[in-house]
Amino acid sequence: MAKLVISGGATLRGEVAVSGAKNAALPILCAAILSDEPLVLSNVPDLRDIATMRALLEQMGVSITSDRDAHTMTLQAGAITSHTAPYEMVRTMRASILVLGPLLARAGEAVVSLPGGCAIGVRPVDQHIKALQAMGAEIDIHHGYIHARASRLRGTTIEFDMVTVTGTENLMMAAALADGVTLLENAAREPEVVDLAVCLNAMGARITGAGTPEIRIEGVERLHGAEHRIMPDRIETGTFLAAAAATGGDVTLTGADPSTLSSVIDKLVEAGATIDAERDRLRIRRNGPLRSTNLKTAPYPGFPTDMQAQLLALNAVAQGTSVITETIFENRMMHVQELRRLGADITVEGNIAIVRGVHKLTGAGVMATDLRASACLVIAGLVASGETTIDRIYHLDRGYERIESKLSALGAEISRAP
Ligand code: EPU
Repeated sequence: MAKLVISGGATLRGEVAVSGAKNAALPILCAAILSDEPLVLSNVPDLRDIATMRALLEQMGVSITSDRDAHTMTLQAGAITSHTAPYEMVRTMRASILVLGPLLARAGEAVVSLPGGCAIGVRPVDQHIKALQAMGAEIDIHHGYIHARASRLRGTTIEFDMVTVTGTENLMMAAALADGVTLLENAAREPEVVDLAVCLNAMGARITGAGTPEIRIEGVERLHGAEHRIMPDRIETGTFLAAAAATGGDVTLTGADPSTLSSVIDKLVEAGATIDAERDRLRIRRNGPLRSTNLKTAPYPGFPTDMQAQLLALNAVAQGTSVITETIFENRMMHVQELRRLGADITVEGNIAIVRGVHKLTGAGVMATDLRASACLVIAGLVASGETTIDRIYHLDRGYERIESKLSALGAEISRAP
């Protein structure tokens, strides 16, 4: 199994290009199901999760072509030949649930495996199911599969019990082809939801309010082909910002969208970094000491759960004590155990981590437990003295494009070992 080997201590300097957003590309790839015409996507990140989604869509009959580095993709769902998302695929990537809404809307039928638990928590999909039922879908769950049918979904008002990103996206796609108007209340406001709405509207959908807690979708008879550029990955951007702040460097990120990162930028400034944001560039520097910062995750525009682990790594080597509270997922502190192996002083009570900053971390062998936990260990490895080896980096490959070559270009000593 591939490992990452990091010799810590280098200061990151230089310029790096941000990739397209994984969590925008995944639902947008699924939007192709909604039309029989071609959907041309650019700035698609070259990631394992994208390859998994591609394989899932292809086995449903969607034809997909791409350029050599897979950053531009043309998808065409001429005919849907299978309505099933099998367990083997959903198990490896929960985002496979995103085919449920569009399949049901386009084909009148969908059979999607229940995702089950995952490393960061239980993560049920009850909100997706309840909302589709409210739109008239008949849904049974048996043998671990969601069986959904609807000759035509009907618009209605749906109030989500909690903010769910993929739930909002699934329903937005389903409602795009429904009969009448759907109102989504307590909808997720994440920028990836907005990017999906922009793409759907380019395909002929009538969606307003994306980015607010109330989204209005007026169903249309059919959607047509379109071209869309995937938004920059705000979590990849934030991860590089955190890495630069941790090593005390001077890094410029290009092709970024600073407007989607306010809560992360505020925290990094509080931690002692200087950040200059231009239209699509972010420059981060840190000369002074790293200060500890408390944080609590929340749905957008709050501090993203997908940046919690990276900021925890930063706090592990900051001056002072910080309190980090995870409110979105119930089991997203597994990186703490690994950080302790590097010498971090952290205690966890439930979903709260008390991080007492130490002067230095020392390299050791550690294991990645999920995607963002892996990013946290990379940051810790960059500042630890000596060598850190991170095992199970397939997690990292799910969501970070060529992370080791991007970091090497900034001066990090990092390589992949078999
Ligand atoms: N929830 C339910 N029932 C539902 C849906 C959600 O109880 O039907 C709960 C979840 O268990 C969780 C909370 O609501 O406690 C929020 O979950 P949400 O549905 O928003 O998460 P998601 O849509 O499955 C997306 C991202 C995650 C990111 C979260 C939160 C994608 C493909 N995934 O997941 O990204 O952490 O939103 O922002 O967009 C990652 O990229 O590393 C990642 C995990």
